[in-house]
Amino acid sequence: MNILVLGSGGREHTIAWKLSQSRKVTRVFIAPGNAGTMLVGDNVNISPEDFGAIKKFVVENDIGMVFPGPEVPLVKGIRDFFESDSEIKDVPVIGPDSRGASLEGSKDFAKEFMVKYGIPTASYGSFTGDEIDEAAGFLRSMSPPYVLKADGLAAGKGVIIISDYDEAVNELKSMFAGKFGSAGDRVVIEEFLSGIELSVFVITDGKDYKILPEAKDYKRIGEGDTGLNTGGMGAVSPVPFATAEFLDKVDEKIVKPTLFGLMKEKIDYRGFIFIGLMNCDGEPTVIEYNVRMGDPEAEVVIPRIESDLFDLFEGVAEGNLKERTLEISDKIVTTVMLVSGGYPGVYEKGKHISGIDSVEGSIAFHAGTRYEGGNVVTSGGRVIALSTYAKTMDDALSGSFRNAGIIDFEGKYYRKDIGFDLK
Ligand code: AMP
Ligand code: GLY
Repeated sequence: MNILVLGSGGREHTIAWKLSQSRKVTRVFIAPGNAGTMLVGDNVNISPEDFGAIKKFVVENDIGMVFPGPEVPLVKGIRDFFESDSEIKDVPVIGPDSRGASLEGSKDFAKEFMVKYGIPTASYGSFTGDEIDEAAGFLRSMSPPYVLKADGLAAGKGVIIISDYDEAVNELKSMFAGKFGSAGDRVVIEEFLSGIELSVFVITDGKDYKILPEAKDYKRIGEGDTGLNTGGMGAVSPVPFATAEFLDKVDEKIVKPTLFGLMKEKIDYRGFIFIGLMNCDGEPTVIEYNVRMGDPEAEVVIPRIESDLFDLFEGVAEGNLKERTLEISDKIVTTVMLVSGGYPGVYEKGKHISGIDSVEGSIAFHAGTRYEGGNVVTSGGRVIALSTYAKTMDDALSGSFRNAGIIDFEGKYYRKDIGFDLK
């Protein structure tokens, strides 16, 4: 079968890399892809949000399955689009429909869902711009730090944590005034949770599910978890503090009720669920749902899957995931992300990247790269993730860091403390 992967980041390179190893897959196409995805499939110059162009490509190229990597096409209803069109309705889209995607697309929907189904999460209130007085009153009733979340998708920037009450009220006003566009028309105000974060990933056909390896992501730009939030600067899997007992609690208190709730709401959820968790003194508490794999979490989770990923996708599409096998490597995988100088603020693109062919012992998953005139150049803030397998976390990290030193481009930056808090 031919399969089309939508997206252009490290997650999509990793997924395309894994799918290309399946004996059941003839060709992997990636739209639009990057200089790394070209090594494992064929790039197609189509935007993941241009559903009309995607349909045309699917019909003309005998595509049998579509895998959207990022959340935006899912929230915009790519699966609904396919299912309502007689020409492509039999081509499965691996991901939820737009209602299911609201778990990520609307924080208010996700919170209401969690409360309804008894899933542990921070207490909250939800307000629109004409309820500013109520919102300010609610804030006053909470203890600092204050957590404000734009309801809609805001490219990972919609969560703001502030210690001062007056500043929080001002922030609330600017969110209502359009700081995040219409994503901030509604704002969720949440209790602050303290603890250590980790993420758990589930693949489901809507009835049965399998839990994939957990991962820890390093979100801040600076060492010691300082500075601005990024898409993610590195990741490790497994997470040492995620004991079997903790993961059992995640399954019983979070995964099972989530699947139950989706069925109750008559949401035919097929795809990944990414559960962002806080470990609050041994109790897992949900920070957020995402309706896709994480990036750079995919770069450590997918390489630990030993079985055929396409076979799992087929199980999702056909509703027989239960019959498919998921084998997980007991090796540790770490990844270190090389980013452009200035990221997550302003940065330059088009910098020549050297040393990719000298990488040894790691896999270089391309995140923001482009092939131009025979060279690989930077084309994004996050550029290349170096993923390494080893028996110990120390060995995996030293491989990722060694190769992070070998690849070079003007302005290259990476965090040299990924995984250190877990040693
Ligand atoms: P999100 O976009 O929901 O992933 O939020 C971004 C980050 O904000 C999370 O990864 C957490 O580090 C932090 N965060 C979100 N909600 C809370 C909360 N209720 N308490 C503490 N930290 C939070
Ligand atoms: N690395 C966090 C995310 O993919 O949302």
